[in-house]
Amino acid sequence: MTVTGFAFLFLLVGLVIAQTSCDNYGVQNGSACNCPTGFGGATCASPGCGGDIFQSGRALAPQQGAFPNITTCACESGWGGAGCNVCQSSSACQTAYSSSGSAPSSAQSVTGSETGENSTLVCNSAAQVYAASQMSCSVVNPTLQAIFPLNTNLNIIRTLQPGLSPLPNATSFGTAGTVFASLFYAGVEQFYCLADSCTQDLTGGDTNWDCQNLKCNCITNTTFCGGGAEDITGAIDTLSGSLSIDCDNSTTCAFKEATLQALFGSAGLSLTGCMFGECVAQSVIDSTSGNSTTSGSTKSAQLSGGVIGGLAVVGGLLLIALLFLLLGLLKQRAARRVKPDLADGSRVAVEWARVSYVVHGLGSRSWLGKRAKGAEDDKVVLDNVSGRVAPGQMMAILGPSGAGKTTLVEILAGKRKSGTTTGRVSFPSAGGAPPRIGFVPQQDVLPPMLTVYEALLFGARLRLPENVSDEDKRTRVEGLMETLGIASLRNVRIGWGGDVGGGKARGISGGEMRRVSIGLELIASPDVLILDEPTSGLDSVSASRVAKVLRAIAHDSENPIPVIASIHQPSSQLYQIFDSILLLSHGRALYSGPGAFAPAEHFASAAAGIAPACPQGYNVADYLLEVASDPPAALFQLPRTNSVPEWEEGDRSEKGSAESASAEKRAASNKHSKSAGRQKYAATFLTQLQRLSGREWKILRRDKTLFFTHVAVSSVLGVFCGGLYFKTGITIAGFQSRVGCLFFLGALIAFSSLSALYNIVEIRPLFLRERSSSYYSPTAWLLSRLIFDVIPLRIIPTIIVSTITYWMAGLAHDAAHYFKFLFILVLYTLAMTLYNFLLGTFFHNGGVAILLSALSALYQMTFAGFFVHLNSIPPVLRWLQWLCPLKYSLEALAVNEVGSGLMIQDTLQGVPVDVSASLIMNLLFGFGENNYYRDVLVLFAFIAGFGLGVIGIVWLKVRERR
Ligand SMILES: *[C@@H]1O[C@H](CO)[C@@H](O)[C@H](O)[C@H]1NC(C)=O
Ligand SMILES: *[C@@H]1O[C@H](CO)[C@@H](O)[C@H](O)[C@H]1NC(C)=O
Ligand SMILES: *[C@@H]1O[C@H](CO)[C@@H](O)[C@H](O)[C@H]1NC(C)=O
Ligand SMILES: *[C@@H]1O[C@H](CO)[C@@H](O)[C@H](O)[C@H]1NC(C)=O
Repeated sequence: MTVTGFAFLFLLVGLVIAQTSCDNYGVQNGSACNCPTGFGGATCASPGCGGDIFQSGRALAPQQGAFPNITTCACESGWGGAGCNVCQSSSACQTAYSSSGSAPSSAQSVTGSETGENSTLVCNSAAQVYAASQMSCSVVNPTLQAIFPLNTNLNIIRTLQPGLSPLPNATSFGTAGTVFASLFYAGVEQFYCLADSCTQDLTGGDTNWDCQNLKCNCITNTTFCGGGAEDITGAIDTLSGSLSIDCDNSTTCAFKEATLQALFGSAGLSLTGCMFGECVAQSVIDSTSGNSTTSGSTKSAQLSGGVIGGLAVVGGLLLIALLFLLLGLLKQRAARRVKPDLADGSRVAVEWARVSYVVHGLGSRSWLGKRAKGAEDDKVVLDNVSGRVAPGQMMAILGPSGAGKTTLVEILAGKRKSGTTTGRVSFPSAGGAPPRIGFVPQQDVLPPMLTVYEALLFGARLRLPENVSDEDKRTRVEGLMETLGIASLRNVRIGWGGDVGGGKARGISGGEMRRVSIGLELIASPDVLILDEPTSGLDSVSASRVAKVLRAIAHDSENPIPVIASIHQPSSQLYQIFDSILLLSHGRALYSGPGAFAPAEHFASAAAGIAPACPQGYNVADYLLEVASDPPAALFQLPRTNSVPEWEEGDRSEKGSAESASAEKRAASNKHSKSAGRQKYAATFLTQLQRLSGREWKILRRDKTLFFTHVAVSSVLGVFCGGLYFKTGITIAGFQSRVGCLFFLGALIAFSSLSALYNIVEIRPLFLRERSSSYYSPTAWLLSRLIFDVIPLRIIPTIIVSTITYWMAGLAHDAAHYFKFLFILVLYTLAMTLYNFLLGTFFHNGGVAILLSALSALYQMTFAGFFVHLNSIPPVLRWLQWLCPLKYSLEALAVNEVGSGLMIQDTLQGVPVDVSASLIMNLLFGFGENNYYRDVLVLFAFIAGFGLGVIGIVWLKVRERR
């Protein structure tokens, strides 16, 4: 068969189908069609004309041009509506019914089986339907009339119980719960629709019909569907899904369908001047009114589904938080009930053997980050240094700059180093428990807003075990302040030290800061105290005062501990305070032994002739530094000590001496992490959180400017933004202002959360210091930041600025929309704050973080949909919008605003425009109408992602590395 043959066959089949298909959703019945009430003709294409709907052989509308036109049809008395379908009086029903000839038909069985009187037909002209009701309304819509100015009528048949209707064709056509609608324009039917699964809902005098499976058909070549100036066939044919027809007590109804709602607002197409008419037996009405209690509760339950879900989530989170709190409380109580163990009194010494440290040069690092061993630019900082300090001894590590003093001190304190450490550090003691090492770094990092007493008490509460009572901790702090000679500074704020605070009130002096730093370590009653240049930067009086304190601690009669301090350039007096000396030169030990004049004697005897002798009356320390700064090579061959036995290889036989070099290296780092890094926190999590929160709260209360500036700035910005968009109208320009206002708020939040970044950068050193001293776990710190930074400084200002703007700009005037609006902005603030926390913790360099944050704010603004229509971005770049939290926030805010049923009413060149704002929103910005909850979920995902990122980075990356 040829191609033309196929085509012919198809044409034939098409013709057959066309011939037998019924218009107006008539039902095929053999070769004829069962038509819906009011239609007739071979294919049901013709509406009835005049007469009444009961007449079987009713005249059909006269053909005018291509289509039947009902304009000239005159109704019988008692009948009305377009097409004379609507009864107006009971007598009209009765007359029409009895004269319809087929009186004792199917309807009889229902209407009059028991008593003749109750079978009387009445005309029900209310909106409520008992069996099958006709309604006829006119459609008055400015936008529609701008295109189609003539009379437009919509006829609707609502069928609830077709079996109870006296209408002749009711049973053969239409099942229970159907709606059939047809639209007449200037008397000519333009399109018709059918929906099923309808339910009637009677609430508060309203009659609401909800149906499913809507389908519509445009009649080709009519004015609406190709015959007129505008062809809206496409729009009509896409009408689908669910349909509701909501009629209130009066004569107005709303014809609601998704597309129509997008076009005309959430009220859909409004129908006015509706006439209802239903010929129905009185008995049907009587029997129905008895049990017509239709439930109206389903709707409200549906409405609040989202709210209930949200409340459930919030409640669940609260419950989890409460559970954790309970768990924390239990743990805290258990920890407090442990009997305080008596001071162990085990004295700890410090020994280190063949400690070497190599820093890898930049060149030795390949691009993949792997290290090439033994590259040329590796720098040996320490080379085989050994030594020992007994409890009650105080050792000074001397040497010129670059000799490796700080490195050695840090290795002894078990700090994480970036280079490679080999050798062994051990802490022999009677008890064998891992020692508590107190380490005072060179830089003082102290909380500037606290007083000296508060800072020390904070340390005591977090670093002393829970079972030490708070009273005891206070006494210890008081005693320690006496020992350190800072009791007079008890209530002085620490401040920023010198003029660093930028004009802020001066705090305590440098020497006092050193002593507070030392105190913070001592309060934890360490077994070993290690200090890095405790006297640098201090005048000689302060320096010797610090040194005397250290000596008193080392020689404490009850609990002597070893004290190791690197000293830069001690005065004669300071030098004499130390018991033993380790002299370093270019990473190698030149001398290790007793202090005072012993080193000078050592060089005078052992190194006679190699090193110059110490001149009489010369400061021994200066002499030693001179020797160490430029030592003759032969000096390194000499024995390095004259009294303390030096480490020999294989000396430490009791602790697995058969370690290879790499194993030793591992041992060195492991031992450190075990003794210092992985030390358990002294306080339980709840205590940590409680104390941290206490401190943050104190700081917030003291530094009132911080909070009040945020609040004041946000109020001013709120008034500014509200004034800018004051009482926006519902014109097209007003709509632009509305979305502009929302955009403004989004951009404001994106930029103002930069201050969160600065905050993190500012507070980071203190966190690093306290974390490395095991004050608290990073989780507790993050949680306290969340409570005392995010809530007062981010969320409250956001709420203020958005509330002021919201009501001044006159956005949707009801509580539900306002809270949904606020919810989105708070979520967005959280997301942006966490994002900035992420940048602030990830980059050591605050400048880079700020640059990135500002750039990403710009990127977000670009892809938010305000500057560029999201669907017109080239596909290569379009995916970028999915990574843009501002887009989701703005979409949710716009959807929320438009979802309040916002209509845009304006005139464009004299044509009145009355369209739903959601249509414009979609056209202008590409925002989807139903995306609110999706956006909320996406924002939650962003928050969770950023939050996890912050937690991960803080746990893994934000730790001290030296
Ligand atoms: C009922 O249907 C028949 C055929 O289906 C049609 O001829 C008749 O005119 C219809 N009656 C009314 C009142 O529409
Ligand atoms: C009509 O029926 C109702 C109950 O269905 C009955 O109460 C009423 O008396 C009847 N009317 C007459 C006139 O019989
Ligand atoms: C229907 O008839 C009326 C009166 O004759 C006329 O005014 C109207 O234009 C007609 N409708 C159409 C669509 O031609
Ligand atoms: C619609 O009108 C066009 C031209 O006026 C005609 O060619 C076409 O056959 C018509 N279609 C129908 C279904 O009547």
